Order: sequence, then structure tokens, then C-alpha cells
Amino acid sequence: MRPAVFDLETPRLRIRLPRPRDAAAIAAYYLRNRARFDALDPPRPEGFFTEAFWAERVEALSNEAALGLSYRWFLFARGDDEGPVLGQISLTNLVRGPLQSATVGYSLDAAAEGQGLMRETLGRVVQFAFEGLRLHRVEAGHLPDNHRSAKVLESLGFEVEGYAPRFLFVGGAWRDHVRRARVCTRDAPPGT
Ligand SMILES: CC(C)(COP(=O)(O)OP(=O)(O)OC[C@H]1O[C@@H](n2cnc3c(N)ncnc32)[C@H](O)[C@@H]1OP(=O)(O)O)[C@@H](O)C(=O)NCCC(=O)NCCS
Repeated sequence: MRPAVFDLETPRLRIRLPRPRDAAAIAAYYLRNRARFDALDPPRPEGFFTEAFWAERVEALSNEAALGLSYRWFLFARGDDEGPVLGQISLTNLVRGPLQSATVGYSLDAAAEGQGLMRETLGRVVQFAFEGLRLHRVEAGHLPDNHRSAKVLESLGFEVEGYAPRFLFVGGAWRDHVRRARVCTRDAPPGT
């Protein structure tokens, strides 16, 4: 499938896989938000904040999506497709078989916070996961004190499934996470 098949829209946003020409805008997004994301992010590879890194990476991301392994989208204002990156959202850890699950992760630019944009984005991505990818569950985890992210998840029906001590290495340490999931209400068996 061509990567454009995975591009999504909401009333305010275009949610799309990155193209080579987005490399500079993506690097700029991560660079200007670096301090905000520091406590939430895993260790970043060499060159992560450079255009050259993303120029190479975007091709790999398209291939992963075409193979159904992961989907890493970037957010743009509708009608300003060449403009600054407003955020990102991903579905990774795709597991098929009887589980049919993926993990969602996301962030917004500082200037895009506080407008309900992540709720709008996540709602569309969950719809794509259930209807487009025919997944059964979407998982998400957040630091216990990330109340803002918790509220976004809660408002979209992501229920708490547990508390995982020392779950992820982010912000330079193994951190506890609240584990949540939204489960599809469809009863159809896997693969249908
Ligand atoms: C988490 C994030 C995506 C939220 O996106 P957003 O669209 O700006 O979310 P909103 O501003 O609509 O806030 C969501 C809710 O949290 C509330 N909120 C905002 N700041 C808050 C705070 N400091 N404490 C508690 N609640 C807060 C808002 O009022 C809103 O609730 P409401 O819908 O009942 O009004 C964004 O803040 C972000 O990118 N944070 C850094 C990266 C991150 O945390 N990623 C997720 C990792 S799990």
C-alpha cells in the first residue's frame, strides 16, 4: 500500500506519514520542544535533532507502515501542509494473532497545547486502528503525574488496567507507568 493511504484528517489537522521534505520541520519540532520532552523521552540516538537524521529516517518510517509494523504520523494544520510540525502520534508494537493490539504514543508542540488537539488526533487514530487496521485494543501508558495526558486518554475511554513499576526507561531512569487501554466493542474474530 502507498504510504498516503495512511494519511488521516480531523476537522483541524492533517495527520500524515512524513515525507523527505519534512525532515527540517521534524528536526525543528523536536529541537524546540527538547526541554519539555526530556523527562518523557527515551535516550535519543546520535543526530536525532538534525535534519540529516530525519531525511534518512522518514523513508524507514514509510516502509514500516507499508509493512504494517508501525505507524508514525506527524501533525500539520489543515491547509498548511508545508507548515510547522504541530505534534506527532504513533502506533507501535503491533501484535496480530489473538491479541490484535498496538501501543499509542504522542506529543504536541508547546504552541499547540491547550486546544484539545490531542483528543481530536487520538480519537481519529483509534478509529483508524479499529476500523482501518481491524485491531482489537490500543494500549497507552503515562507517568503517574502526567495528569494532562491521563485526561486526554480518559476522555476517549482508555481505562486503567494496572500500575507497572519501573516500566520504561525515560527521562534517564526506569519509571513507573500507569497502563491504560481502549478495547474495541466489536465481537468479530481476528482477521475479519
Ligand atoms: C499530553 C498532551 C498531548 C495533551 O494535549 P492537549 O491537546 O494540549 O491537551 P489539553 O490541553 O486539551 O488538556 C487535556 C485535559 O487536561 C487538562 N489539563 C491541562 N493541564 C493540566 C494539568 N497541568 N493538570 C491536570 N489537567 C490538566 C485540560 O483542562 C484538559 O481537560 P478537559 O478536557 O477536561 O478540559 C500535551 O500536553 C503534550 O504534548 N505533553 C507533552 C508530551 C506528553 O506528555 N505526551 C504523552 C506522554 S504519555
